[in-house]
Amino acid sequence: MQTIRALNPLRETTAALRRAAGTGARLALVPTMGALHDGHLTLVRRAREMAEIVAVSIFVNPKQFGPNEDLDAYPRQLERDSELLVAEGVDLLWAPDITAMYPEGFATNISVEGVSAGLCGADRPGHFDGVATVVCKLFNQVAPDIALFGEKDWQQLAVIRRMARDLDLYAPLPNAIVGVPIVREADGLAMSSRNAYLSADQRKAAAALPRTMRSAIERLTIGHPAKDVLGTLSADVLAAGFDNVDYAELRDAASIELLAEPNDNARLFVAARIGGTRLIDNMAVG
Ligand code: PAF
Repeated sequence: MQTIRALNPLRETTAALRRAAGTGARLALVPTMGALHDGHLTLVRRAREMAEIVAVSIFVNPKQFGPNEDLDAYPRQLERDSELLVAEGVDLLWAPDITAMYPEGFATNISVEGVSAGLCGADRPGHFDGVATVVCKLFNQVAPDIALFGEKDWQQLAVIRRMARDLDLYAPLPNAIVGVPIVREADGLAMSSRNAYLSADQRKAAAALPRTMRSAIERLTIGHPAKDVLGTLSADVLAAGFDNVDYAELRDAASIELLAEPNDNARLFVAARIGGTRLIDNMAVG
């Protein structure tokens, strides 16, 4: 695996990898912020199935963290992450430093309206602008044929798909932005780099999140009114030891529009805080 930290060698390296892989070879990019877990490695394995060349980026993007969020505390473990990626047979690790990504005087912002409103967009102002801006840059830097993202960040995936469509980032390849289903721990908790912040007790309590979501979906499926079901879900999450429910909402999976009752394309979205840690999850309804 080649590890590259500056833009000029990156371009030479992707060109060389493409030449070596031959005509028609596809390059897949898995963008990450590091602190890799099995969820990320699942994306890498899927990328390997879909493309001849696999690149992973690791960049903790300051633009997607709010002033009171966990940018400084966010786990950084490049050496360990590199070892995991080597073991997965990754060809290229793109790990730019801050000045390679945001040189002095950087002044551009990409803002995607509509799908970025509500849910995490409401709780974390500017977050999706930061995500869209860095992902657009990553696409321009690495020039992949496809890019893979986890469905745990469903709204992020919707924002990236809309941006790619609106800016013609992937005009030649339909379905170039690939969503990969959530990878869960044995007790159902969605894998996340932020799970590392949880104490043993909080980690145990956190399993209530997917559990209450599944039981809410069962009640919705047999026709209970959504308002009652979502109220019970929030109460159950708090009773399990969470400190706050930021949102528990039904939304259309594609447009992210709020739904009063489930439709055929409905998804349940929850964000809740336990200690200082904010966990998110989403599941299809029906
Ligand atoms: O999902 C993430 O890890 C990040 O939001 C991403 C897509 C790598 C952009 O920084």
